[in-house]
Amino acid sequence: MKGSLNSQFGFLDFDTGFGSGLCDTSLDAEIGVRGSRSQLMGAWRGHSSARGGGTGAGAAPYTAVMSSIADLRKSYERAELDESASHSDPLAQFDQWLKEAISAQVPEPNAMTLATVGSDLRPSTRVVLIKGYDTQGIVWYTNFESRKGQELAANPFAALQFHWVELERVVRIEGQVEKVSDSEADAYFASRPLDSRIGAWASPQSQVISGRGVLVANAAKYAAQFLLNPPRPPHWGGYRLRPDNWQFWQGRKSRLHDRLQYRLEGGSGGAWLRQRLAP
Ligand SMILES: Cc1cc2nc3c(=O)[nH]c(=O)nc-3n(C[C@H](O)[C@H](O)[C@H](O)COP(=O)(O)O)c2cc1C
Repeated sequence: MKGSLNSQFGFLDFDTGFGSGLCDTSLDAEIGVRGSRSQLMGAWRGHSSARGGGTGAGAAPYTAVMSSIADLRKSYERAELDESASHSDPLAQFDQWLKEAISAQVPEPNAMTLATVGSDLRPSTRVVLIKGYDTQGIVWYTNFESRKGQELAANPFAALQFHWVELERVVRIEGQVEKVSDSEADAYFASRPLDSRIGAWASPQSQVISGRGVLVANAAKYAAQFLLNPPRPPHWGGYRLRPDNWQFWQGRKSRLHDRLQYRLEGGSGGAWLRQRLAP
């Protein structure tokens, strides 16, 4: 079916060739109109076909996006996550999924969202790159004086999340965070490209700066000072999150997703209890 949505804000063509499944049907009734994926994405980029009484650029495309964004959804049908086919050890499950994300060539499979909560009890998130994982935990590197660094100093509990969109998978990991040893951080720092090592000196991460020139000037200054061998800055190093809770989410059809949680029972050295959570 083809049709159009003509509102005070513009004129957006649509057809019904987008999405399928139980939830789609119920939301059709609720929303009343559905856009094709390409048209929705066009609207998303601010290039919807605004014409005929619309205001063109400015408010019109944006409002068209707002009326259609609630209609963006997909049916997850790629895979399953079953108790009988999953590992009893969450680290082994994570290892398998991360390797599958890497071989599937999803964009930035090593990028994870890190959530922290400081002494003001306000959660904050940002993306960091995983740099190691083993039975001890999950490691990333950053500036200890950044917002995340300050929040972890006040409250060492954190959460990590990977979202591998193309695989319809999410991994969530919670636990307590500690700094990695100086020798471990030194070894990793030495392995970084030179511009990244200079960058660790040049960027007062999370602080307000007067302009980009500050970074450029700092980089030039430290490059001249350290030449080819910048040492690891004292304010820069690694954190390791020791998981006590893992969750693996696999999207399934009709919003009946698979979720397996692994909870550490009996503290460190205890056993993992695997349970299914309702989606
Ligand atoms: C894909 C990606 C990877 C990133 N990796 C890191 C990282 O490993 N370490 C880091 O400190 N910041 C990394 N960043 C920048 C952070 O997301 C963030 O801007 C920065 O750490 C400051 O966060 P904060 O002010 O909340 O502490 C990355 C950003 C992106 C988009």
